[in-house]
Amino acid sequence: MGLLEGKVAIVTGGAGAIGRAVSLGLAAEGAAVLVNDIGATLDGTGRDLGPAKRVAEEIIAGGGRAAVSTLSASDLGNAEKIVAQALGELGGLHSVIHIAGILRDNIFHKMTWEDWTSVLDVHLNGGYAIARAAAPHFRQQNGGAYVFATSTSALIGNFGQANYMAAKMALIGLARGIALDMRRFNVRSNCIAPLAWSRMISSLPTQTEAEKLRVERLQRMSPDKVAPLVAYLVSDAAAEISGQIFGVRNNEIYLFNQPRPIRTLHTAQGWAPASLTEMMPALRSAFTPLEQSSEVFTWDPV
Ligand SMILES: NC(=O)c1ccc[n+]([C@@H]2O[C@H](COP(=O)([O-])OP(=O)(O)OC[C@H]3O[C@@H](n4cnc5c(N)ncnc54)[C@H](O)[C@@H]3O)[C@@H](O)[C@H]2O)c1
Repeated sequence: MGLLEGKVAIVTGGAGAIGRAVSLGLAAEGAAVLVNDIGATLDGTGRDLGPAKRVAEEIIAGGGRAAVSTLSASDLGNAEKIVAQALGELGGLHSVIHIAGILRDNIFHKMTWEDWTSVLDVHLNGGYAIARAAAPHFRQQNGGAYVFATSTSALIGNFGQANYMAAKMALIGLARGIALDMRRFNVRSNCIAPLAWSRMISSLPTQTEAEKLRVERLQRMSPDKVAPLVAYLVSDAAAEISGQIFGVRNNEIYLFNQPRPIRTLHTAQGWAPASLTEMMPALRSAFTPLEQSSEVFTWDPV
């Protein structure tokens, strides 16, 4: 018996590198999977109905149950149709995994409105839409689980990704808001920050030796390694886990901290800019360095 026997899951972006691995991984644990994917290019343009269909076929060929949706998950009307399809075609819905994503990297002073809105649309509005569409059903059945794909690019940072960082940070807020609001209905909501080789990170620069080495390391990180964590998080085995952020790279799994006050400045008289100038150095040693993700993750997970 798999951990997800008798359960139904929706995976948005379910035919991409990580989404496909997650769809297959959930099916291997016994879940029926609605594979939702528009088959977009990395920047969100273009459509290919083939990839979602092929992942569903792969699941069915392996003896599992699957359905296909090629509607964009970033629209509430579509999201309602996707949820209705899972309920109608697969006979239920127990988890929603929002993995759909695109990139429009651009250094901030050159970022266009279109770069901004298109990225927020897929990651954040898509997360809201699919989660909101499933919420009444989860409430009614008194149970359900969400997993949203965030990124270390958001938690730590990366050049040229202010749009992506904003969207992925916002997803953490969305996931935590849902966790708080829907706890009373036994609905759980968590984030994962995966790292795995895919077209999303294949555009990394490889000019210097250090950059080449980094890309070689990344190429060894398989999307398959993300699936067990997601399958576990949406299963009843994780019934106590909600509002958390996990990371996964190869065989390493992380739990990320979430912001809490770490130092206090207080004065009975209140503050003026001049007194802040005087006292701010007391906090400086606790400031978060302006690092990028690669400066924090400096070791190779095997
Ligand atoms: N690969 C990594 O190392 C990494 C790191 C951090 C976060 N992530 C996140 O993980 C997720 C998956 O990334 P990936 O590396 O597998 O990329 P990918 O490009 O292989 O997969 C993304 C998938 O989303 C689909 N998609 C795009 N817009 C959609 C929409 N509106 N509706 C439905 N599907 C849509 C695409 O067609 C594609 O198949 C993304 O959210 C990404 O931001 C990936």
